[in-house]
Amino acid sequence: MTSIDDSLVRDPGVLRSDMVRALREQDGIRSEPVAAAFAAVPRHRFAPEAPLELVYDPHRTVPVKKDENGLELSVMSAAHLQAVMLEQAGVEPGMKVLEIGSGGVNAAYLQELVGKAGEVTTVDIDCDVIDRARRCLDDAGYPQVRTVLADGESGVPDGSPYDLITVTAAAWDIPPSWISGLAPSGRLVVPLTVCGTTRSIAFDRDRGPESDDEGLVSRSYSLARFVPMQGEGAAEERRVLLREGVAVQTDDVRVPLDAQALNRALDGPRLECWSGAAYDLPDELELYLTFNLSSPARLHAANDVVERGLVEASALFGVPVLVSEDSFAYRTRRENADTGGFESGVVAHGPGAQALADEYATLLRRWARDHRRRGAATFRYLPGPVPVPLPRNAVRRRHGIVTATWR
Ligand SMILES: C[S@@+](CC[C@H](N)C(=O)[O-])C[C@H]1O[C@@H](n2cnc3c(N)ncnc32)[C@H](O)[C@@H]1O
Repeated sequence: MTSIDDSLVRDPGVLRSDMVRALREQDGIRSEPVAAAFAAVPRHRFAPEAPLELVYDPHRTVPVKKDENGLELSVMSAAHLQAVMLEQAGVEPGMKVLEIGSGGVNAAYLQELVGKAGEVTTVDIDCDVIDRARRCLDDAGYPQVRTVLADGESGVPDGSPYDLITVTAAAWDIPPSWISGLAPSGRLVVPLTVCGTTRSIAFDRDRGPESDDEGLVSRSYSLARFVPMQGEGAAEERRVLLREGVAVQTDDVRVPLDAQALNRALDGPRLECWSGAAYDLPDELELYLTFNLSSPARLHAANDVVERGLVEASALFGVPVLVSEDSFAYRTRRENADTGGFESGVVAHGPGAQALADEYATLLRRWARDHRRRGAATFRYLPGPVPVPLPRNAVRRRHGIVTATWR
């Protein structure tokens, strides 16, 4: 028998209020308009087949579509991430907004935020997703949101310029259509992936003294995870398996990836080098390493490989790795009995282990000394031909370069 308390807890309205409260407490929701949007939209109507507890869990995604290998192609994003990105977007009543990557619910939040005078267009590359989003939007009372089936790489020119373009799939580049589709004071919020790690970045037009007005500069960024962008803008990435359970990926064309040579290195001796520097804020440190290592990639190791002691636990969720033709170095940590925290260090393998470990450890120390805080990085996107030589802290993309500098 269902008790009265159980039936109250399962009420969507109660679950929604709890979710809004949790999102406020966890700094996902920071403003009253975003709180009101999350309180107004019946989130469960956008995932009618999913359990209510899952739909209203602030940190869990709801599966929508997978490919034949089980890779997720579309999900309803977690409420916490949606809230963070809506706060980054700074949506105002009356704005014209384009969402790239649909599902319906985030478009409904956007419609609440822009109000009657605003316009929301949402585009998806997948006809199953866009048909479903259309049905859910109509059912939940948002018939005014425009749904478009297209590859978002080309934007949706019919409707531009937009005050806000918000992308909800992991992008590897910023195509020209997104920049040209922005109003002069428009904002682009995009989960940008560099070497396997993603940050939701809020970009405005770069009006700095050295800027030609074509580029973008970041206002804020936040750790994010998204399904990958499909179509024309899909990531250019290489991934090699060294052995069962150990893989290295990179999207930097300069990085040599010789699986056999790296695997041989892993069989050889292991060099450990301790930095003497504090280890914390792992996502900020990871970002710094990704943009500052001279030959960056990402090392992944499965549980059993870590349990056997072959690779450090830092690689379980992916760790920045410095790679040469025959050697590699990556970050680890150990407890620091004096401070109660952790000290960062490097594990390296291969004939060039010492030189790679030295470069890596220097960066660990520099970050701890000069940049160990949240939000210290500024990103810029410079469209156009890739400059030669590539500036420091820059990654090459199809339509331009991304740079990151630390204050
Ligand atoms: C995380 S889901 C979107 C979540 C959604 N915004 C919500 O309200 O929860 C990402 C979506 O991006 C779509 N997508 C991927 N590549 C795309 C592209 N090139 N153009 C448009 N949509 C794309 C996928 O089909 C998928 O539905």
